[in-house]
Amino acid sequence: MNNLKKRYIYIQEQIRSHDYEYYILDRPSIPDHQYDELFKELKQIELAHPDWVTSESPSQRVGIKPSTDFATFKHFKQMLSLANAFNADDIKNFHDRIVKNLGNKEQIEYFCEPKMDGAAVSLIYERGILARGVTRGDGTIGEDITSNIRTIRSVPLLLKESQNSFPDLLEVRGEIFIQKSDFDTLNLKAKEKGEKVFANPRNAAAGSLRQLDPAVTSSRPLAFFAHGIGTCQGHEFTDLEQIFSTFSSWGLPVNNYNKLVTSIDECLHYFHDIEAARENIPFEIDGVVFKVNKLSLQKQLGEIARSPRWAIAHKFPAEEVHTEIEAVDFQVGRTGILTPVAKLKTINVGGVNVSNCTLHNLDELNRLDPRVGDGAVIKRAGDVIPKMVKVIPKKRNRAAAIQAPKKCPSCGSKTIFNYQAEWLVMNINNSKPVKKFSSNYEAQKYLDDQQSSQLNIVENRMNTPFLKCSGGNNCPEIFQGKFTHFVSRKAMDIDGLGQEILYTLINKKYINDFADIFSLKEHRAELEKLERFGQKSVENLIQSIDQSVSVELHKLIFSLGIEEVGETTARNLANVFKSMEALQNATFQDLIEVPDIGPRVATKIIDYFCNIENITSVKKLLRHLSISNPNINDVNEEMKFLGLQIALTGKISPMSRDEVKNLLLSGGAKVTSSISKKTDCLIAGENAGSKLEKAKALGVRIIDATELTDFINDPKTFL
Ligand code: IVH
Repeated sequence: MNNLKKRYIYIQEQIRSHDYEYYILDRPSIPDHQYDELFKELKQIELAHPDWVTSESPSQRVGIKPSTDFATFKHFKQMLSLANAFNADDIKNFHDRIVKNLGNKEQIEYFCEPKMDGAAVSLIYERGILARGVTRGDGTIGEDITSNIRTIRSVPLLLKESQNSFPDLLEVRGEIFIQKSDFDTLNLKAKEKGEKVFANPRNAAAGSLRQLDPAVTSSRPLAFFAHGIGTCQGHEFTDLEQIFSTFSSWGLPVNNYNKLVTSIDECLHYFHDIEAARENIPFEIDGVVFKVNKLSLQKQLGEIARSPRWAIAHKFPAEEVHTEIEAVDFQVGRTGILTPVAKLKTINVGGVNVSNCTLHNLDELNRLDPRVGDGAVIKRAGDVIPKMVKVIPKKRNRAAAIQAPKKCPSCGSKTIFNYQAEWLVMNINNSKPVKKFSSNYEAQKYLDDQQSSQLNIVENRMNTPFLKCSGGNNCPEIFQGKFTHFVSRKAMDIDGLGQEILYTLINKKYINDFADIFSLKEHRAELEKLERFGQKSVENLIQSIDQSVSVELHKLIFSLGIEEVGETTARNLANVFKSMEALQNATFQDLIEVPDIGPRVATKIIDYFCNIENITSVKKLLRHLSISNPNINDVNEEMKFLGLQIALTGKISPMSRDEVKNLLLSGGAKVTSSISKKTDCLIAGENAGSKLEKAKALGVRIIDATELTDFINDPKTFL
């Protein structure tokens, strides 16, 4: 080897070592200008000897812009997510289950880590060389973002030599993130340039990773911490502590706040210590993670439904922030209900800009009594919608209380209280009620059974705290809302009919009825002439309408927007009646025998199908559709949730609420939206509210977030 080549290799090693000191240890040993000179020399040599340059050279971090989108990559092993815990009880339950599962044999060590608020990635090293970087994606398939990962200075392109030999294949899993101070600078620069600012470091990190041009990613201050291992060939590990110390010796960045403990109480101490230090930790975290340290025990515990039984995230409580109330508006939904919404001075809560906060109904409005100019405390956790915790009344010249509107803000029709009716069977002699029913049908049936001339029925209407617009289809908000719901993803799923296009077609009277959507192609030439439409977009629109023609029965039922008929009820109806015609002909008695349907919902369904406008509209619609019924609930004795009535509440993770619901339904469960004595258990996620209280009061078994995966695996052991 000639001297220049020796020098070239030496400079590469020097730069790598300085990168490690600077980006990973945060302890540079040379001044910046010396580093720049080394880099300059490296580039000069490479210019003279391009054949010496390999992809591991520190000069090769920023590659060329790929011409197409990112390729997808199937992970060797699924990238799991973590179940969440919100309090010490959840954590103790987590530990108790582990002890039980392992047969009480050993003392369990836990590896404690901060829960980084960034983007998860998988980095694949082949014999020490970074070969690939992939996003988490859906956990099974991610996007190949190798060229962007290579630009991140704390990700070594080549692992550091050490006494440990490199594995043939090593998959390092971890988090890409942006430090708080770097984030502030990034946003400041964006603001100066008049560009869009990021709401939080997590969005900025994830967005930067998905830039097609690696030069853009390179300009973003991204950092990396390893927090796990995927596939590993050619090296054996026994526990997490060893994995992370080996990672460090290979030059991979590992979080300094990690700690090994020997009891669950120490885990709780760790949580409090990190929570206390949170402000001063230079990067965003949203909790801590506890992992069983020994890999053999992890293996024994296994995983369920995309999350390991051996790990849990202990989340910090929801952040609360102060802001100011600028107005309180009433928004009209598709059912005509008016919801009071506070307009706030925009504030960042838990990394998301919040400027609206629902106040739900008039009771909540009266309880909080928010007025223009008042202060407000807003709380938001995870993906949960912001909640107004408290109003801080303005000291002087406080504005007038918000009045419930007498007219609909959208169409000016009179507002009425949405009432709930009950039917009282009265004794006509003493005018005293004998029995109360929630439907006229049941009251009538009782009267018929009694065959007494001394009884009659009286309807009693009780106002709910919900105001309603009386305009019906004449109210634009109700009319548009009905169609927005009809085309939405969980309903007919017509993605070509986005809000703007939909509203234009409604305003131009091309859509007056559900069936009109399916006749739009007859107006193709006219539509192409409309402003912002054009040939291509009309083509896309017609294509997506054509695709929606074959529809599953439960989606069709849901799309009609019958009051009180949500997704679950629609599924149950589809399973029982099997066709739209049978549903239309169902009697009250037929309906209340369907799981999750009580007299109130049955009455709404009967009312819907008694209305002549609805009958004609559904009849016309059916001519265009081809309906299937996959019958996911067909009874099968082997189904593990068969016979169980299960309710869900709060934000459920790591699986989405829909995933959990579908899993339960396909296992034969009845999934209900309300709690009653018949409920076998309540699955309670984050921010569970009144349902949780009711379940406690009724003594219904509660499955918390930490138990969910075990419950799904083996419900019998829980009930
Ligand atoms: S371990 C075995 N450790 O949280 C479970 N994840 O819900 C795999 N995260 O997608 C993850 N900090 O992006 C683990 N110290 C940490 C973490 C962490 C943040 C993220 C990660 C993952 C999500 C899990």
